[in-house]
Amino acid sequence: MSELHKGLEGVLVAESSLSSIDGEAGRLVYRGYDIADLAEQASYEEVLYLLWRGELPTAEELAEFESSIAEERAVDEDVLATTQTLADAGETPMAALRTGASMLSAYDPDADADPEDRDATVRKGRRLTAKLPTLIAAFERARLGEDPVDPHPDLGLAANFLYMLTGEEPDDVAAETMDQALILHADHGLNASTFTTMVIGSTMADVYSGVVGGIGALSGPLHGGANQDVMEALLDLDESDLGPINWVDQLTDEGGRVPGFGHRVYDVKDPRARILQQRSAELADSTGDDRWYDYTTTIEEYLTDEKGLTEHGIAPNVDFYSGTVYYQLGIPVDTYTPIFAMSRVGGWVGHFLEYQEENRLIRPRARYTGDDSAEFVSIKDR
Ligand code: CMC
Repeated sequence: MSELHKGLEGVLVAESSLSSIDGEAGRLVYRGYDIADLAEQASYEEVLYLLWRGELPTAEELAEFESSIAEERAVDEDVLATTQTLADAGETPMAALRTGASMLSAYDPDADADPEDRDATVRKGRRLTAKLPTLIAAFERARLGEDPVDPHPDLGLAANFLYMLTGEEPDDVAAETMDQALILHADHGLNASTFTTMVIGSTMADVYSGVVGGIGALSGPLHGGANQDVMEALLDLDESDLGPINWVDQLTDEGGRVPGFGHRVYDVKDPRARILQQRSAELADSTGDDRWYDYTTTIEEYLTDEKGLTEHGIAPNVDFYSGTVYYQLGIPVDTYTPIFAMSRVGGWVGHFLEYQEENRLIRPRARYTGDDSAEFVSIKDR
């Protein structure tokens, strides 16, 4: 059999025109458009349209697309009741999202559609994208003992999420920051969760199964879970009297990995981290509390300039700066990875549809290293 590629590192398994990463130059594009331009000038819904339909919408097309998502935001009462049950049982937000996303399929009008019915898959993907923010916000409110807030039909996806979380319309800075964070996380090639979704889609399973699998894969600390880990680490640093440099030295001396650093594809700083770093600086300026911005930049400079980590291809990834941005927006730390999911669902659905268009079952092999001539002994003689 052919050469072993642990972790499928460097293996090409599909063709895709959704997004491309240049890991040496630190560049990310969605369908040819630089992520910095999209973050600066587009909205998350516009980016969803681009990812799913392959081109930027006109103003009229975008307005129609936005309302087609906005009208799908409400979730069934039974799902909200289950969300409350999960909150009461002490479930984590990411696990509650996984369960809630799965339950949504029971109430989807296309639940029984043939998985080969592409239009139905598009509708289901759109509903999932519209409803994940509602689930996340409802869970947060449930564990605070508060009723869910009905979606606001006139707000965009990002602003409506913050509205459903707090019950108050966010100011422009908060709404724009959240929108930008969603754009930055929407797609990223064949990352672990997108690949999981594709593997599920390649069996011609339905898109709910794919997205639920994606949520599971995203939850781990080597993937989306890192944004929460970064903020927890910074809170730990803040409580210690070590200061950022001694704190990070202690972590690495003990053999620990710095959360938010390193990436399988980037050898240089992640372009998304650059944009979020800027956002973190602006939020620090507006609140007058630059503690979190200072910790992150001090750690980055120290690891880069003095410890030479970048020479080994280890630089800040998207998660290093997203945590402090969400923290400054007042979002609970364990809700950061669900926010990643409510953005990445755009990429999951896009890749799911793209792969199924010219589907081939994904079925790699493992090199067998076990015994191949064991003699079976009946259970009564063992
Ligand atoms: N801190 C210190 N050393 C590191 C780190 C880190 N964060 N990341 C990698 N290294 C070292 C690692 O110890 C290894 O050194 P050596 O060769 O001496 O054993 C070398 O770099 C290569 O590491 P690797 O695990 O083989 O690299 P990988 O491509 O498999 O790992 C990664 C990528 C993201 C899993 C890893 O960098 C990591 O664990 N980072 C911390 C968690 C994190 O930030 N994850 C978010 C990833 S980006 C967003 C997302 O996908 O959700």
